[in-house]
Amino acid sequence: MTKREYLVAFLGGFHGRTYGSISLTASKAKYHEGFGPLLPGIYHAPFGHVADLRWFDEVLFDKLVPAREVAAIIVEPIQGEGGYVIPEDGFLEGLREICDRHGILFVADEIQSGAGRTGRMWAVDHWGVRPDIVLTAKGIASGMPLGALVARAELLEAWGPGAHGSTYGGNPLACAAALETIALLETGLVENAEVRGHQALAGLAPLRSRFPEIVRDVRGKGLMIGIELDTREHADAVQWAAFQRGLLVLEAGRSVVRMSPALTVSSDEIETALRLFSEAVAEVASAA
Ligand SMILES: Cc1ncc(COP(=O)(O)O)c(C=O)c1O
Repeated sequence: MTKREYLVAFLGGFHGRTYGSISLTASKAKYHEGFGPLLPGIYHAPFGHVADLRWFDEVLFDKLVPAREVAAIIVEPIQGEGGYVIPEDGFLEGLREICDRHGILFVADEIQSGAGRTGRMWAVDHWGVRPDIVLTAKGIASGMPLGALVARAELLEAWGPGAHGSTYGGNPLACAAALETIALLETGLVENAEVRGHQALAGLAPLRSRFPEIVRDVRGKGLMIGIELDTREHADAVQWAAFQRGLLVLEAGRSVVRMSPALTVSSDEIETALRLFSEAVAEVASAA
């Protein structure tokens, strides 16, 4: 059997404790700064459009590495650090098909998009795609330090006992927080993310027509919402103007401001956020 030595990753973050986020992420060069040499055998693929999938047959498997030597394709179903980028319908399904055709593992990095954030337990659920491996962290334990790799038993049992250890693995306090978080997700928080997400997107959408000179796009699923500005300077200025009003948002990608509130957020809190954010955008637009 051929040894599979290569990984394919998409622009965006990756779960460090598992494969080395520094080695894999391509969202920003600064995340690599001072960390070389990085893990070899990683190819970065174009993300998001169904037409991009041609790259696998035409470039990767034809010119760079035989398909039978590729171990895994790792993808954020919705990109986080890359700028809250939602793939076209059919993209993840097409990737799954490529993996099935060549016996490659489909790894979903759900560290930002998972644990209910997008109004589904996992972002891949929006497209009905089943990964072989799911990576989760961040929201899975409500902020307690926990990362987990979830995979079919046959994959994990192939590792012998002790093959994957870490100082903090299985930390009881973090695991208890995760169990409680999962119970809350399953009894209302995933649904709340979907409903409040619709409310937020409906409230943010008019910003495009109100401030067409600086607002380029408003997009999201559930409570993973990105507002794309025309320039990084304007994205930074909106972030700062929102901060001064008591609203915490964070830039991502080239010029996107992300809104990613707690899944417990209420309708009134969303209304307050919409008001403060609109004021912040208006302030930046008036100075532009
Ligand atoms: C999608 C994604 N994957 C992985 C990571 C890195 O996770 P960790 O800090 O657990 O290594 C991040 C961090 O922001 C992320 O957004």
